[in-house]
Amino acid sequence: MTASQNSNNKAQTPIDFASIQRLTESEAQAVDQLILKELTSDVVLINQIGHYIINSGGKRLRPMLLLLTAKALKYQQSNHHLLLAAVIEFIHTATLLHDDVVDESDLRRGKDSANAVWGNAASILVGDYLYSSAFEMMVRTRNMRVMEILSKTTTAIAEGEVLQLLNCNNPATTEAKYLEVISRKTAILFSAATRLGAVLADASPEIEKNLADYGQHLGIAFQLIDDALDYTSSKNELGKNLGDDLAEGKPTLPLIYAIENGTEAQANIIIDAIKTGNRDSFNEVYDIVKATNAISYTEQRAEDEAQKAIDALSNIPDSEYKQALELLARFSVQRSY
Ligand code: IPE
Ligand code: IPE
Ligand code: MG
Ligand code: MG
Repeated sequence: MTASQNSNNKAQTPIDFASIQRLTESEAQAVDQLILKELTSDVVLINQIGHYIINSGGKRLRPMLLLLTAKALKYQQSNHHLLLAAVIEFIHTATLLHDDVVDESDLRRGKDSANAVWGNAASILVGDYLYSSAFEMMVRTRNMRVMEILSKTTTAIAEGEVLQLLNCNNPATTEAKYLEVISRKTAILFSAATRLGAVLADASPEIEKNLADYGQHLGIAFQLIDDALDYTSSKNELGKNLGDDLAEGKPTLPLIYAIENGTEAQANIIIDAIKTGNRDSFNEVYDIVKATNAISYTEQRAEDEAQKAIDALSNIPDSEYKQALELLARFSVQRSY
């Protein structure tokens, strides 16, 4: 089953992601050109790995959010929205390169992960290169607010990843602790993307906060669903292996809820699986998260966050771009990839 088949969402019309993409198509192409240009280095391995991961696709959701926000607020002063959209995708890609090393994941965007092809050292170092390039690019805006937001964002992402590491193999991790991790490791970058759109457009502090809140709630919804999909999707659709979280002993919400709501025997199986961190018990754990409604609960929490994201947009003037932002909040919950 995929998130889109869950009973809460059944009545909803499926979101047409491609038609949302078309709204920023020309800008997105310019962002991709910029990304390719900035990836060029005379160090061959940087070119190879950089192009490999960037060309493997990805939804480009974060740059899309920045572009849509800028358009919703009628930004047209310069091309800084394109530059910052590329910066956001660079930071995202750097976190993926590092994340796959930490998570020992060998499939990303439907292809062997960079660490599976070139090894951990190369992935970490090229991830560092992408982070540094992102900072070099952002400085070109000469905008202190932009630099403040992005530097705080990368610090928070690193904190989120380290906090998550501390929770690994700990079955006593609470829902609150889990939410703190995903707020930092994932949602803050979404929030930076939408906040930056507002900063570029010289929006009022109130509108800037509304858009930052939208991105934060959407990001939490997005990671909640990612953590459900790690159990429920298919490898082909997701482009990542299922069970990577279990293999790492990651106490994500489906497991936390199943421990709290399962029988003692069911809870013990999950507790044991988190402590040992391996894939062997995947089928058994999957049956328990399903039986305890832990997947539905996770999806419902994501739905609540998506609604909060949409509510945060209430002060933004109506436009097709604002409507696209609303649809992307829904997409983050309905998605199956
Ligand atoms: C993957 O993000 C990492 C998470 C925060 C869950 P995406 O699902 O946006 O990855 P791509 O860029 O589309 O591959
Ligand atoms: C998101 O967490 C990672 C980052 C924010 C870097 P996951 O570990 O769940 O992401 P995937 O599933 O590997 O894409
Ligand atoms: Mg991972
Ligand atoms: Mg995941």
